[in-house]
Amino acid sequence: MTDTQAIRDLANKHLWMPIRSWTDMGERGEPIVIDRADGIRVVDTDGHEWIDVNGGYSSVSAGYGHIEIAEAMRDQMKQLSYWPEGTTTPPLAQLVRKLAELAPGDLERVWPVSGGSEANETALKIARGYHRRHGDVGRYKVISLKGTYHGGTGVTMWLGRPAGITLEDYEPEYPGLVYAPLPNSYRCERGGENASDCAVRCIKALEDIILFQGPDTIVAIIAETVCSSLGAAVPGDEYWPMLRQICDKYGILLIDDEVVCGFGRTGKMFGVEHWDVVPDIMTVAKGLSSSYLPVGATITSGDVADAFVGEGNAFKQALTYGGHPVSAVVALKNIEIIETRGMVENSAKMGEYFLGQLQELKEKHSIVGDVRGLGLLMGIELVADRETKERFPDSLRIGERLVEKFRSHGLLLRTMGTIIQLGPPLLITQNDVDEIVRGLDAAIGEIETEL
Ligand SMILES: Cc1ncc(COP(=O)(O)O)c(C=O)c1O
Repeated sequence: MTDTQAIRDLANKHLWMPIRSWTDMGERGEPIVIDRADGIRVVDTDGHEWIDVNGGYSSVSAGYGHIEIAEAMRDQMKQLSYWPEGTTTPPLAQLVRKLAELAPGDLERVWPVSGGSEANETALKIARGYHRRHGDVGRYKVISLKGTYHGGTGVTMWLGRPAGITLEDYEPEYPGLVYAPLPNSYRCERGGENASDCAVRCIKALEDIILFQGPDTIVAIIAETVCSSLGAAVPGDEYWPMLRQICDKYGILLIDDEVVCGFGRTGKMFGVEHWDVVPDIMTVAKGLSSSYLPVGATITSGDVADAFVGEGNAFKQALTYGGHPVSAVVALKNIEIIETRGMVENSAKMGEYFLGQLQELKEKHSIVGDVRGLGLLMGIELVADRETKERFPDSLRIGERLVEKFRSHGLLLRTMGTIIQLGPPLLITQNDVDEIVRGLDAAIGEIETEL
């Protein structure tokens, strides 16, 4: 028998958890202590079961409990647990080949890392190094889209400056960061009336920003294909092709953050494939291993990588756990499962069905302002007034209250303010979707009544 309270007390005494205070958690009888998981469901140490609607951090893409992954991990661990500096291993060579095969266009060279933040930090360093090596020494600025999250480390935390993450503690801001409007058609900063109009206006604004800053001062633009932190803000179809054109026009590198969108999340292997665009650098993590182990990668085009070829020209970075053979084996097995079990196709199919069900919720509940998504990356935005899109005041703590209600209906869910984020494992079935939608319906209905 596990003494849940004893574990909870230990956690609240010594564990520092993300975006939570241990004193508040202690008072509320948190955290839940998870004991085991299978598919899309997790069970706590007292035997309560929930659907993990976000699959970890929208990261357990293949679902929990794949024994083949555990076995591959154990076998590799028994054979070789690490490698001498300056050498490589068969699993890593196979993984980078697999990534080069899967990644669009000429993305072919892979810098392995341990997670999404490291992948984006690496991408920014490579982008700066690339321009320097081309003698373009005046370039140092990086443009990101307002509201997008790209990581929690030194530079990445400043990218996008997503609402809800307070950065004042860490000021001064990293130099050379520039922010452009996000093509979020529900609340288009540039007044776009639909997704296409919003996309075109945001690109126009981006070009104005580039011209104002000076094109030859800008290293790269980093963007997520579908902005996950804003509950799946899907850009109009014009956005990514035009973004590619703008980058080409001004010699700016395009960094595509596929940390969430990659490996089937949006119904294609990579989000950017919806628009047939090839970025210069792509970053992946999360779904790369379905979070069975920490692993990520920064994948660059041959042209970008070639800037680092030759004597004394190498990219000077080393991360102890980047390229770990056990992580590589896990990633390979996970990709095999995603491919052979048709999870990318299931993501497209179930995503469409799920979104249809969410539309019905919108018709039923007046506080649902918007539902949106692509594949199995979706979001629900709640509003005080559907006409004006007025937000609920923070003092109502809508997000936290919803999380509690979802729990009582068997769902573990994430909210960002009044945006409910949905990113379930890609093996989800229609029955699972129906069960989740029933829970959402009940919880939203209860909040509506209380309000
Ligand atoms: C789009 C995106 N990029 C990067 C990251 C950072 O990844 P990690 O938490 O693995 O460092 C995240 C994390 O949620 C993310 O959502």
